[in-house]
Amino acid sequence: MAPEDVLCDCNRLTHAVVAAAIATGARRPGEVYAACGCAAQCGRCLDIIRAMLAAAR
Ligand code: FES
Repeated sequence: MAPEDVLCDCNRLTHAVVAAAIATGARRPGEVYAACGCAAQCGRCLDIIRAMLAAAR
């Protein structure tokens, strides 16, 4: 996935934005959304965000 690819359509979050949230300390999906100034809506992006969180551990 490229940095500019949108992984959360509801909130228009790109891979780079989510990666930055994780790099600055988000450890759970809710913390990722909060760091991006939004909240989960449909939840379709949760699997990708969880995978990114797991990879960062
Ligand atoms: S795609 Fe992320 S909340 Fe819907």
